[in-house]
Formats: sequence, structure tokens, C-alpha cells
Amino acid sequence: MTGKDQPNSNPIHVALDTVDLARAQTLARALAGAVGGIKLGKEFFTAHGPQGVRAVQRAAGDSPLFLDLKFHDIPNTVAGAIRAAAPLEPYMINVHAAGGAAMMAAAARAAEEAAEASGCSRPKVLAVTVLTSLDESDLDAVGQRGPVESQVRRLAALALDSGLDGVVCSPREIAVLRRDLGNSAILVVPGVRPAGAAAGDQKRTTTPREAIEAGADVLVIGRPITQASDPAEAARQIMSELSGAR
Ligand code: C5P
Repeated sequence: MTGKDQPNSNPIHVALDTVDLARAQTLARALAGAVGGIKLGKEFFTAHGPQGVRAVQRAAGDSPLFLDLKFHDIPNTVAGAIRAAAPLEPYMINVHAAGGAAMMAAAARAAEEAAEASGCSRPKVLAVTVLTSLDESDLDAVGQRGPVESQVRRLAALALDSGLDGVVCSPREIAVLRRDLGNSAILVVPGVRPAGAAAGDQKRTTTPREAIEAGADVLVIGRPITQASDPAEAARQIMSELSGAR
């Protein structure tokens, strides 16, 4: 890992995309020690809320939590949401960069203030730039011009200027964003597929090793781990593919 006080040297964050609390707990327990963190998103959170998150955290031991709730609202509301999430002590939390500079700055301030008030570490706040489900014609339809990559780069720069710690980006954007944003920005990358794994609905995939070599800090990997017959072994296998990368 590059310096950014990552809590451990394992870059794999497993995405626990399920509404089944027992399954999420079982996976978290099985994967503790084999992954560097767990990601819980809107699907799980909408079904089980903060209590469910705590239950998974207990099962996961002290695995860092990426709370992938992608907030996007007026600055005051997003700041309130970040403060409300702070007691869960997420290691990373995210917002949509399209919410604008004032919203992102409010999110960064709220994370700082909540950490000071509670004495816990400040969650890293990341920006989602352009959803990977959108292409140029989708952007055009909502009034945003230009190639997707230009919009991603513009929003990523705005996020860092607004005080955020990094961005979530697709594998194809890692290299350009690493160049644009420098080494201290955290780059979190989904859409990663180990050699030989099914792509599923991910269209633009890369292998874990390619992603790390291009400059990714955190790899968000779901189904190749969660749907494996032995999830911990699948995660360990990915880690072994990574040995010596960078
Ligand atoms: O199962 P899979 O490895 O495709 O899971 C990837 C995870 O990353 C999912 O939780 C998905 O929501 C998330 N994600 C993504 N693409 C983005 C942002 C997040 O696949 N652009």
C-alpha cells in the first residue's frame, strides 16, 4: 500500500451485497483475517440499518468498514448523515461528487468534527465521480457534455480540492487519476476480477494485480469471493496473485 494510513496491508475489501443478515455475518466471520476490510452498501443498510452494520462488524472482528452509502443531498443534510454514521466508526464513507464543492467540503468537515467529538479516527471521505453504469449518451441526456473520462477527471479534482481523501473509480481510470491526483489520494476500485473469474455484469474489468500495478489502493471485490465455495480461500488466492505487485 502507499502511505495513507491504511489500517492493514491487505487491499481487498469484500462487498457484502445481500439483504440476508445471517449470510452477511457468516461471510464476515469466515473472511476475517483474509480480507483487509468489508464493504456494506445501500442494499444491506436499507434492510438492516446501523444495528445490522454493528452485527456484521462484531462478526468481522476488527475489519475496517467501508460504508458505501453514496450520499448526495444539500450540504447540511449530507453533513448530518456523515455525523450520524460516525458512531459506526467507518474507515471509509462516500458521497457523490456531483453534489458539488460545498457539499463535499461540508462532508469533510463533518467527518473531522465527528471524529474530534468522539475521539475516534476520522473516516476517510471518498467521492464517487461518474457511475460506471453511465456512458457518454447517458451523460448527454442529463445535460453533461464531453467524454466520460473528462467528467471523471473534473469531478475527482473537485473532490480533492474540496478536502476529500480520494475517489472510487473504475479500473480504466486508475492510471489517469493517479497522475492527476498524486500519491496521497486514495483510489478505491471495484470491477476487479481475478484471472479466470466470471465477469458477471461488470463490463470493464481488470485483474487485481493490474489494478494494484496501475495505482489502486483498495480493491472492492464481491462475487468472486462471496460466491466461491470457500470464500476465505478465494480471498487468500487473490492475495497470493498480488504478491510482489507494486
Ligand atoms: O460482485 P462485484 O465484485 O461485482 O461487486 C462490486 C461491488 O462494487 C458492488 O458492491 C458494487 O455495488 C460496487 N461498485 C461497482 N461499480 C461502481 C461502484 C461500486 O461495482 N462503479
